[in-house]
Amino acid sequence: MGTRLKVNERDGCNTSIPAQIEFCKVTKRYGEVAAVKDLSLIVPRGEFLTILGPSGSGKTTALMLLAGFVAPSEGDIFIAGRSVVSVPSYRRDQGIVFQSYALFPHLTVRDNLQFPLEMRGMKAAERVKLVDRMLERVHLNDLGGRMPSQLSGGQQQRVALARALIANPPLLLLDEPLGALDRNLREQMQGELRALHREFGTTTICVTHDQEEALTLSDRIIVMRAGKIEQTDTPAGLYDRPQTRFVATFLGEANILENASFSLESEAPPLSGTVAMLRPERICVFDAADPDRAVDDQRQCVTGSVEDMVYAGPFRRYHVRVGNDLIVAREQAASGQQIFQAGDRVRLNWLRSDIRFVRM
Ligand SMILES: Nc1ncnc2c1ncn2[C@@H]1O[C@H](COP(=O)(O)OP(=O)(O)OP(=O)(O)O)[C@@H](O)[C@H]1O
Ligand SMILES: [Mg+2]
Repeated sequence: MGTRLKVNERDGCNTSIPAQIEFCKVTKRYGEVAAVKDLSLIVPRGEFLTILGPSGSGKTTALMLLAGFVAPSEGDIFIAGRSVVSVPSYRRDQGIVFQSYALFPHLTVRDNLQFPLEMRGMKAAERVKLVDRMLERVHLNDLGGRMPSQLSGGQQQRVALARALIANPPLLLLDEPLGALDRNLREQMQGELRALHREFGTTTICVTHDQEEALTLSDRIIVMRAGKIEQTDTPAGLYDRPQTRFVATFLGEANILENASFSLESEAPPLSGTVAMLRPERICVFDAADPDRAVDDQRQCVTGSVEDMVYAGPFRRYHVRVGNDLIVAREQAASGQQIFQAGDRVRLNWLRSDIRFVRM
């Protein structure tokens, strides 16, 4: 594939046209194991798509198929409308962050970053300017002269990210790009990724098992399970309307009210083969002895006793025994709030419309 990199004369920045991606019934087998099964997916130009799923679900394999490091056993893959299954990875115009970073060990940080620019024929003076700017964005200004072996894991990961982003390719492939960073740095880098995506609109496919990262960064998320897509939706759609028990419990916390010991009320009637699900943060917790908490007819109310209270900084998690069920409720910390302890009798209530039915 020819490079679509152009130099934007106004600010000296490089720009390129984001690519549309299409997986068409793609299967990848390793002997008996199908790491990816019959995957069909279109990623529109400029979308930030995250592949989320547990370990071994086929996320890296899907990304490596797209990058050209793994060939499909069946099916076809299109980038910008062209089949790429016979195009070697070095001929594809893409920036990649590998799960293992894969920095050039014999090049300094600065030369690692210059490499993709040199490959695209950029002049030395411009390369230096871009490298400086990118080092600043990933907070590594002082480390340009170091070799990769002289960096911490998190620093290496930021170099890998900077190297993938620097030439602003039409396609960006990220495999756990922020996994080695501490929480503060991860949030800063998420902010940088969001800003860069807003600025350049590069089609981005990001693999992660960090739910918060997936929810924060993505236009759309696909959840993979054992090589197949379990559900595709926007972050809010996936969190608010999970279709299966797997998605509901993988993305966020969920109470699965299977054979509830109380008569569960919901707005919509349950479909066969489904089970009721309620998010812990949708549940309000009150003192059972408190007489003033009138419940309107849109809410269901049950009484139980606290088995455990877990302090988690901005919120508390209550495990409440209601008959045979153990219900988890999450209360946001607020000033003047009543705090319950194990053994306390409490009343829980939630909106009937917050009950979701998910497939088993
Ligand atoms: N080269 C290979 N040879 C044989 N099996 C492989 C190979 N690469 C991957 N697999 C298998 O394919 C499945 C999917 O692996 P993959 O690396 O895509 O998972 P993943 O979702 O990225 O997991 P993780 O979150 O742990 O990185 C796993 O069962 C894995 O063992
Ligand atoms: Mg992986």
